[in-house]
Amino acid sequence: MKNTRLVIFDTTLRDGEQCPGASMNLIEKLQVARQLEKLNVDVIEAGFPVISEGDFKAVQTIAREIKKTKIAGLARCVPNDIDAAGEALKPAEKRARIHVFLATSKIHREFKLGKAQDEILRLSVEGVTRARKYVEDVEFSPEDASRTEPEFLIQVCKAVIEAGAKTVNIPDTVGYAVPDEFGVLIARLVAEVPAFQTGDAVLSVHCHNDLGLAVANSLAAVKNGARQVEGTINGIGERAGNAALEEIVMAIKTRNDFYAGITTGINTREIVKTSRLVSRMSGLIIQRNKAIVGENAFAHSAGIHQDGILKKRETYEIMDPTEVGWGESELPLTKHSGRAAMVARLKQIGYKLSDIEINSVFQKFKEVGDKKKFVYDDDLIALVEGHIAEVQKVWSLEYLNVVSGTATIPTATVKLRKHNGQADEVYQEAGTGDGPVDAVLKAIDRITNIKGTLIEYNIRAVSQGKDAMGEVTIKADFGDKKLIPGKGASTDVIEASARAYLNALNRFITTSGKIEIAEKGI
Ligand code: KIV
Ligand code: ZN
Repeated sequence: MKNTRLVIFDTTLRDGEQCPGASMNLIEKLQVARQLEKLNVDVIEAGFPVISEGDFKAVQTIAREIKKTKIAGLARCVPNDIDAAGEALKPAEKRARIHVFLATSKIHREFKLGKAQDEILRLSVEGVTRARKYVEDVEFSPEDASRTEPEFLIQVCKAVIEAGAKTVNIPDTVGYAVPDEFGVLIARLVAEVPAFQTGDAVLSVHCHNDLGLAVANSLAAVKNGARQVEGTINGIGERAGNAALEEIVMAIKTRNDFYAGITTGINTREIVKTSRLVSRMSGLIIQRNKAIVGENAFAHSAGIHQDGILKKRETYEIMDPTEVGWGESELPLTKHSGRAAMVARLKQIGYKLSDIEINSVFQKFKEVGDKKKFVYDDDLIALVEGHIAEVQKVWSLEYLNVVSGTATIPTATVKLRKHNGQADEVYQEAGTGDGPVDAVLKAIDRITNIKGTLIEYNIRAVSQGKDAMGEVTIKADFGDKKLIPGKGASTDVIEASARAYLNALNRFITTSGKIEIAEKGI
């Protein structure tokens, strides 16, 4: 029987997180994984366990906490990598998948690996064989497959399937392919590798977006027989990113006349929520005109369009916005709403918090409720996600006073608490700057003795109205040339900026072994 079920493999937490400045902490990754499960992706690639202790822990935790979705961990064809992946994935038991990869293209063989074809073939088979000792479900990726000689690629596919790979993934690693050509390659692989026809192995694709063709290439592959697509939410990833899964899923659903009955298991109503969560957790803002999930994706401003839509929606809309989860907000909460109402709303939005976390969020909810009339779902999400984004506190904001105006030099006085375990200390400094944010950040630098440079600064209104909370997302470099993300939300945008900067600073201190330096105030 012809297989029409398309497997959706999400690599937001692995390839997506490789995007500079998009790194997430463990709690953020877990939150994304939980939402991906609600979205009903088939496989979550949770990380690359051998690469760092943090990645190992993330894969292990996600493998333990996620109960329904398959969990994959990446490994090179190197024993250490495969053993680390096998170990990290243990809690997922039968749902564990090890994804091994090795480059096969001539340029990678000659210049990166210094290995001939027969050696690549041998190492690929050995890698799959070793992975099969840990799990039944092994995926193999011939890296840079789209630039590999097709004859050799076919040989590799057959050999790794013979060794026990259940999925062979064809990556367009550098985003070089174009749709017609990529479709022809996929059709040839299906025609020449019998296991792809019998269903003994699944042919997958993994497209990068360097020429803006990742989604088009993925769709061409599906049309020609691929039955797994890999990609990320919002298309995040290294360089120009990966194929945006929400676009592939909605293209297949909307144009099912063309994609001949192909189906996915995706719960499309969770798309917008997932997209926003990934954006907040990764600090990567979604462009307004991004298909499906951008703010403008369903906004019709031209009068002629609005008129048409009112007469019949399908005149100018090819998808119903509610189908992807737009416009599902409820009546806002207010400062009079109790703890139970807030908890009920959080549950509805999809957050599972402990009692201690609820207490902390409820306190912030009351503070916001005192400052603004309505607390919208987005305000609540910002509060919860602010809480999730919190890393081990080394410095926290105690007090902030800013004097600014058109005819004065912006001046800030900042008081910070340094968390020392038993005896906290409070420090105060003042600073002037080009603007109020600059003045605040300079005062913070003086107190902490760590000089940061703002590389990126974004601010957005979380919800509607003049009293809306402002959410600031930043990327800062604290001297080691790494982009450290930070975020903060408040009804006061200067305070939100200070909180975002401190969030990044605490991340830097706790992840770069700089705690001791900060302790000594060096
Ligand atoms: O782009 C790529 O080739 C990859 C592989 C590891 C699948 O991400
Ligand atoms: Zn990739």
